[in-house]
Amino acid sequence: MPEKYFKCHVRYCFWHDKMNFILILLVNSCLGHHYSNKRFPKDFMFGVATSAYQIEGAWNEDGKSESIWDYALHKYPNLTVDYTNGDVACDSYHKVAADVAILKELGVQHYRFSIPWTRILPRGFQSEINMKAVIHYQNFIKKLKKNGIEPMVTLYHWDLPQSLQNLGGFLNDSLPEWFVHYAKVCFHFFGSDVKYWITFNEPVHICLGGYGYGYFAPNIYGEALWIYRCIYNVLLAHARTWHLYDEEFRLIQKGKLAMSLNNDVYIPASNKETDIEAADRLLQFMLGIFANPLYVGDFPEIVKFRVAERSKAEGRNQSRLPELTQEEIAYIKGTSDFFAFNVYTAYKVAGLDYEPPITNPPTISGDQGGTIFQPPYWENTTASFIKVVPWTGRYIFKWIKHLYKNPEIFVTENGYPTHGNELDDRRIFYIKNYLNDILNSIYEDNITFLGYTVWSLMDNFQWNFGYTNQFGLYAVDFKSPNKIRTPRPSAGFYRRIIESRCLVNNCVD
Ligand code: BGC
Repeated sequence: MPEKYFKCHVRYCFWHDKMNFILILLVNSCLGHHYSNKRFPKDFMFGVATSAYQIEGAWNEDGKSESIWDYALHKYPNLTVDYTNGDVACDSYHKVAADVAILKELGVQHYRFSIPWTRILPRGFQSEINMKAVIHYQNFIKKLKKNGIEPMVTLYHWDLPQSLQNLGGFLNDSLPEWFVHYAKVCFHFFGSDVKYWITFNEPVHICLGGYGYGYFAPNIYGEALWIYRCIYNVLLAHARTWHLYDEEFRLIQKGKLAMSLNNDVYIPASNKETDIEAADRLLQFMLGIFANPLYVGDFPEIVKFRVAERSKAEGRNQSRLPELTQEEIAYIKGTSDFFAFNVYTAYKVAGLDYEPPITNPPTISGDQGGTIFQPPYWENTTASFIKVVPWTGRYIFKWIKHLYKNPEIFVTENGYPTHGNELDDRRIFYIKNYLNDILNSIYEDNITFLGYTVWSLMDNFQWNFGYTNQFGLYAVDFKSPNKIRTPRPSAGFYRRIIESRCLVNNCVD
């Protein structure tokens, strides 16, 4: 259960939530001094992020094989709202120079991008390494380094080789072995120039989206049995990769490795004990299910307890949640060199005054036992799933600090969507306020941050939303043959923050 102090540090927390919210708006606009005048620490890294399928295009060039997203969107174009796909996207595979130029213009310290498994190992297995792709990324990474930009490489941003999906993908217990072989090839060829590795991006979407609710490739509508199997395989794949890096590469390459976890900030809907417990429980199901094995050891107690109880009620003789052995618990624990975290928005959580009925198939929402919602008075964005509540950042950072013994946090994604010609002044507001919460977390809550990463460098393919949401600091003209990149006002804003390392006119040092 969260401690008392969690109750009050979100500015518009529990009592009379709506009144409080209005009050804060008033205070902020009248006094106008709510931005911290502290400076970001010297070694704090500012960066931007993208992922391969969302920007690269060249889906079948230079020996690349088909990924689960290529397969899904070629076969079922209506999986995206605008019937588009990532076949061409920003054409970044052919536009290395243009992308490095805008990164340099922004002045970022790091660039987070992903390498597709389908390019490096087209068959999925280590038996065939595609040297064309290896050379491509070696050159790209060298170019970044030459321009003073630290590469942060994501090994898996949702684009599994379709050949491995044909063997069951993340539900096949050989997944950890396949993944570690792929990771080894990457460490071998790129590791001397890479100091930050991300194994998996947002594993909760890999498993819930891919194998539970079916909203992401491979679009399997499974049950809350496969989701947990997938989570188990992701954890083992990550841990094996960390151990491999630790044993064979770290001494020479001196890098750090983590998995980019995510969750929307879940805050209790009221100060009722049931809501407070529900908010904490739902976070444990979505975030703790990965973070607890990495930092504390084993799945969270509440997750183990609820899934076991409900499995029993369903007439099963074992829990749907795989039981980690003592060896596995010890093997997974400690395999995160920093807490990589993606955050975009928040939800309120209300507890239920009844136990959700047992369903067939069982659902993860039944296991969680709570409901989430976003109050109508929270500011909307063009993406229905993102509301503008950046001042909730500090709440989740404290939650992480408290539960996982104050790990170093690296915000590996945070971003705001616009649509069409919409001005991006609210993106500036959004980024500024998340950064403000980071400053307050650093100076008032004693949390260490390694850096912050805007999603995204440029507009790109947004999964089911196709090209209808634009997250870029740079706009991309997808109709132009050259996919011209043009800076938005938020690019200039971010560049100035990076230069000054400060959110206000004069920072105190
Ligand atoms: C994903 C990105 C995605 C972004 C915005 C994140 O969850 O990692 O790939 O584009 O959200 O929807």
